[in-house]
Amino acid sequence: MSEQKKSIVIVGATSAMAEHCARLWAASQPAALTLLGRNLEKTEAVAADLRVRSPGSQVKALQANFSDPQQIRASVDAIAAAGVPDIVLIAHGSLPDQAACQDDLALAADALQVNGISPALFAEAFAGHMQRAGRGTLTILGSVAGERGRKSNYVYGAAKGLLTRYAEGLQHRLAGSGVNVVLVKPGPTATPMTAHLPQRGMASVESVAAQIVAATAKGQPVLYTPGKWALIMLVIANLPRAIFNRMDI
Ligand SMILES: NC(=O)c1ccc[n+]([C@@H]2O[C@H](COP(=O)([O-])OP(=O)(O)OC[C@H]3O[C@@H](n4cnc5c(N)ncnc54)[C@H](OP(=O)(O)O)[C@@H]3O)[C@@H](O)[C@H]2O)c1
Repeated sequence: MSEQKKSIVIVGATSAMAEHCARLWAASQPAALTLLGRNLEKTEAVAADLRVRSPGSQVKALQANFSDPQQIRASVDAIAAAGVPDIVLIAHGSLPDQAACQDDLALAADALQVNGISPALFAEAFAGHMQRAGRGTLTILGSVAGERGRKSNYVYGAAKGLLTRYAEGLQHRLAGSGVNVVLVKPGPTATPMTAHLPQRGMASVESVAAQIVAATAKGQPVLYTPGKWALIMLVIANLPRAIFNRMDI
């Protein structure tokens, strides 16, 4: 009897972190991967690469509208109709220019949408299907930036903070349901998102992806990756305001 392939859906599948997670999942055992991206050509390219790396896997590329709640619902329902996934990874996001967001509210609105509202709505849409099935793991890529608002990136940080609260709420709702919600808080990681920043001290995308895959397998509620960021953010989050406000961070 042939074993059923693990079914994995990746939203924002062209993200470097997501692509490396997909490679690890497909390398460990053939999987049924559904890749969602805003750009079909780019998503197809990721799918084609995964098919070469893992000929036993089934890899499907789909395009989705990431900013329209109705279309998010329709995309997720269509995927779930073919079978409720074992794993959902929600990965999309973009690092906006903080100063530009302060000057242009449309940019700020876009940044809040893509980093906060859109991933939360994808999580919400998948959560109902997974709750009814009573199984699965929903992994959401947040950020250490969501821990405390800082002048250098509080628009992005606020959106990621929204994801922290949203994931907490989903974890509370789904406790005991058989569904795990994993919130990942990466520190600075070398990917296209951070290519314009100084690279010193950045984590490698390979190491971060390995930790995301391991935390997803365990259903770990919160992952700081690399782990040192748990301590760093504990300190930053608890610094007295009088000290914090004098810091140029
Ligand atoms: N890299 C870091 O240092 C870091 C640190 C903490 C958290 N994170 C988070 O980790 C996740 C993955 O990031 P990454 O470093 O792998 O970034 P990445 O390689 O730059 O990928 C970003 C992804 O988001 C998608 N995206 C960007 N803007 C979008 C929009 N308006 N609508 C829909 N999709 C959009 C991109 O799609 P296209 O390919 O079509 O552009 C791509 O799939 C993100 O949520 C990010 O916020 C990253």
